[in-house]
Amino acid sequence: MAAIELVPKPVTIKRIIEESRDVKSYVLQMSGSGKMPARPGQFVEVSVQGYGEATFAVTRISKDNQEFNISVKRIGHLTKMLHRAAPGDIIGVRGPYGNSFPVDEWKGKDIVVIGGGIGLAPLRPVIDYVLEHRKDYGKLEIVFGARAPDDILYKEDLRIWEDDKGISLYKTIDVPFEGWSGRVGVVPIVVKDLALKPDGKISIVCGPPIMIKFTAAALRELRWPNDKIFTTLEMKMQCGIGQCGRCNIGEKFICKDGPVFSLDQIPEHAL
Ligand SMILES: Cc1cc2nc3c(=O)[nH]c(=O)nc-3n(C[C@H](O)[C@H](O)[C@H](O)COP(=O)(O)OP(=O)(O)OC[C@H]3O[C@@H](n4cnc5c(N)ncnc54)[C@H](O)[C@@H]3O)c2cc1C
Ligand code: FES
Repeated sequence: MAAIELVPKPVTIKRIIEESRDVKSYVLQMSGSGKMPARPGQFVEVSVQGYGEATFAVTRISKDNQEFNISVKRIGHLTKMLHRAAPGDIIGVRGPYGNSFPVDEWKGKDIVVIGGGIGLAPLRPVIDYVLEHRKDYGKLEIVFGARAPDDILYKEDLRIWEDDKGISLYKTIDVPFEGWSGRVGVVPIVVKDLALKPDGKISIVCGPPIMIKFTAAALRELRWPNDKIFTTLEMKMQCGIGQCGRCNIGEKFICKDGPVFSLDQIPEHAL
């Protein structure tokens, strides 16, 4: 069983979107009748022959599950190769893996999405899902922070969310920047300033580890209980299916038990 799950499937790069100076999104098409039935929060292992594999969140899923997106920040070996790829190129994908955000359990609640930089990537399918099932949820609030205007991802989505009267979008950059007239300040400070109350709400947080840690602290200061704060953890992964032991925190494996956890499910040092 595990051997079959480890075999990558070929997918074609259909379109590449330049999101920011170091992030590109890829619209990937499954081959033949292949499907990618990913739920919000799940991830895939992407391989480029001769360069190995790396883990990426699924960032958008087509209704027929034949196309899906990943967003890749240029970091090292494999991500540099992916940034050199072109539409029509074929890469390998295994997955989807991991658990997902329990969006159905959140029905009737307001959803607060808090993303920092590339951390918005795994949260976007939650936003898509809530918008597709609008009447099932209360208000949608989105806090998104980037280091500088050039690091802002998903500009087209942000424009749509900004114009949507049912969404409160708070966009911020870390430090003042010439020509930027919007909000300035790191995400945890913005969360505190907004005094986001926990009543009837669920929050989901993803970003660099330091941002997750301080945002969680800010929410707790605002009296959010741990079981109302969800995050998706990022750790170096290899197999993605609980076999290699690279991603364990205590008794849990991020690839198998996560990557999505509420804060009452993980030890403090995991943040
Ligand atoms: C569940 C999960 C979801 C992810 N989702 C995304 C996503 O949506 N988009 C995205 O761009 N990235 C995502 N990542 C991170 C991505 O897997 C790494 O950036 C990628 O593996 C880097 O591969 P590389 O070969 O380019 O870098 P390497 O050549 O392996 O490494 C270059 C340098 O970066 C460091 N490094 C590599 N990976 C990580 C990491 N995960 N954390 C901290 N330091 C690291 C290495 O130690 C090394 O110093 C995710 C990771 C996980 C576990
Ligand atoms: S990535 Fe291998 S055990 Fe989790």
